[in-house]
Amino acid sequence: MRKKIVAGNWKMNMTTAEAATLVTALKADLANFREVEVVVCPPFTALATVSELIQGTHLDLGAQNMHWEKNGAYTGEICAGMLRELYCHYVILGHSERRQYFGETDAIVNRKAQAALASSLHPIVCVGETLQEREAGQVEAVITTQVQGSLAGLSAKEMLDSVIAYEPVWAIGTGKTASSEQAQEVHALIRQVLTGLYDATVAQAVRIQYGGSVKPANARELFAMPDIDGGLIGGAALDAKSFIDIVRAAV
Ligand code: PGA
Repeated sequence: MRKKIVAGNWKMNMTTAEAATLVTALKADLANFREVEVVVCPPFTALATVSELIQGTHLDLGAQNMHWEKNGAYTGEICAGMLRELYCHYVILGHSERRQYFGETDAIVNRKAQAALASSLHPIVCVGETLQEREAGQVEAVITTQVQGSLAGLSAKEMLDSVIAYEPVWAIGTGKTASSEQAQEVHALIRQVLTGLYDATVAQAVRIQYGGSVKPANARELFAMPDIDGGLIGGAALDAKSFIDIVRAAV
């Protein structure tokens, strides 16, 4: 049985003080919650504070990006070791905003995923088609290419240590959610691609989150689909009550 995983992607929001307030509210409700894996991904500047606040709880910490090198002359970048030092267990990689605004390609995402895994961080690898690609009937081709390229060369064990997030670009921050059927269809496709890359056992064991305008009102229906194993939540993760409601919808 795949354990559901709900992660809050706070993006470039929350000062350290605001992050502390939010995570304190989450803790009050979810500190001992075990049915679903719950991950919070604050901006880099708030990681240390949030890390300290969630110590001893069942909440897990994730980052939103990292560089693939271990250290060196990469001004403005953060490496896996720095994230591990703050007790991060997850790192979001290849989010569509990184792909769109910062030129991240599947090859870059792949280097980052390899580097994360080499440092015992679990990557949450994001894939998703644009509206234009969907309308052109390219969903299958785009998703297949992204999954194969972003995960290239990972061993079966590394694949099992990774999470995939399907986030249709047209559904992110737009209020337009993919219908549960549309999402399920792509999740099943991703499992099919994983079966080709590994085998059915690995494909059935990897967790695939859905992301894109998940809200308390639509979470239950999405999470009930057979191949949807939780969510990557943006906007609704900035409000304690809606995030908690979404987490509880995954039970
Ligand atoms: P959203 O963002 O929930 O605000 O649509 C999801 C994401 O980008 O991870």
